[in-house]
Amino acid sequence: MNDLQTVVASAQAAFALAHTPADLENAKAQYLGKSGRITELMKGMAALPVDEKKTRGAAINQAKQAIEAALNACRQALADAQLQAQLQAEALDVTLPGRQRGQGGLHPVSLTLERIGAIFGSMGFDVAQGPEIESDWFNFTALNTPENHPARSMHDTFYVEGGTEHAPNLLRTHTSPMQIRYAVQHVKKYRAATQEGGQGTLFSGAMPEIRVIAPGRTYRVDSDATHSPMFHQCEGLWVGENVSFKDLKYVFTDFCRTFFENNELVLRFRPSFFPFTEPSAEIDIQFPSGPLAGRWLEVAGSGQVHPNVIRNMGLDPERYIGFAFGMGPDRLTMLRYGVNDLRLFFDGDIRFLSQFR
Ligand code: DAH
Repeated sequence: MNDLQTVVASAQAAFALAHTPADLENAKAQYLGKSGRITELMKGMAALPVDEKKTRGAAINQAKQAIEAALNACRQALADAQLQAQLQAEALDVTLPGRQRGQGGLHPVSLTLERIGAIFGSMGFDVAQGPEIESDWFNFTALNTPENHPARSMHDTFYVEGGTEHAPNLLRTHTSPMQIRYAVQHVKKYRAATQEGGQGTLFSGAMPEIRVIAPGRTYRVDSDATHSPMFHQCEGLWVGENVSFKDLKYVFTDFCRTFFENNELVLRFRPSFFPFTEPSAEIDIQFPSGPLAGRWLEVAGSGQVHPNVIRNMGLDPERYIGFAFGMGPDRLTMLRYGVNDLRLFFDGDIRFLSQFR
């Protein structure tokens, strides 16, 4: 190996040892810098005779080119290695599951309330909302509920501050107060339009029928697998001049069959008692097949609106007659989805609720 080959070999070895671009540039200076080996060799030519200078110069140039080639190869290798390291550090595993935002859905009882609203809406019923803190008048007195009725006792009802000593405010025990609230507004509107009857007199003029449902939360001091201190009801009211029990029967049968998507469903109107209706009936349903077949299941209370209640609506019971019903959407939800513990609806357990999404 001549001296030039030795220089090239040692430059290649020095470059190969460089692990960073800075090391490499230092190594480069030793060979290609101003006082590097190549420069030294060039200077050494000055002493040579002219004819040798030519061949020696060409050989040194070749050695220089070989060193530059080695330098560039090492620069490229270092840049490649750096890129690889960076890619590895910033590696993205595209097979990892994404971090998704949880998707919400309506509560099963809300789904039922929407469904009830849609079905009765299609039959021309308005949907009304009312206050959950109610006065004694709307919750009991206006609904013909006597002073000694058990629902009025302290251990059945949540009384709250406000009202008077003899008529305290309370959390409504049913949605029935909405019968009075809605009807009074309706009557007021048409009384003004017809200018018939002054304050305090009962309205016996013409008006469109009252057809309304009122879904919402209701409260009682009750708690077990089938009772919750907060539960839902949906009231229904239909008042007109020629409304009869057959209308109630037709509407409620149609509702149940549509709600449960079962045209074979049978209904039973079982005589009962409520202070605000006379006569009164509990409505039971029976499925012809499936896990609940053969059992009568109570779904609502109903009846012909008591004349005293019609009066408290501001209407003349000689002209107006009506039907009312009150059903339990929680119960309907349990029946529709096969849920056997009411408390599941109010525990807020996402594993239960997400099944209804
Ligand atoms: N309010 C009654 C209850 O909570 C249910 C009820 C029965 C409502 C008969 C009505 C009705 O409108 O006519 O038990």
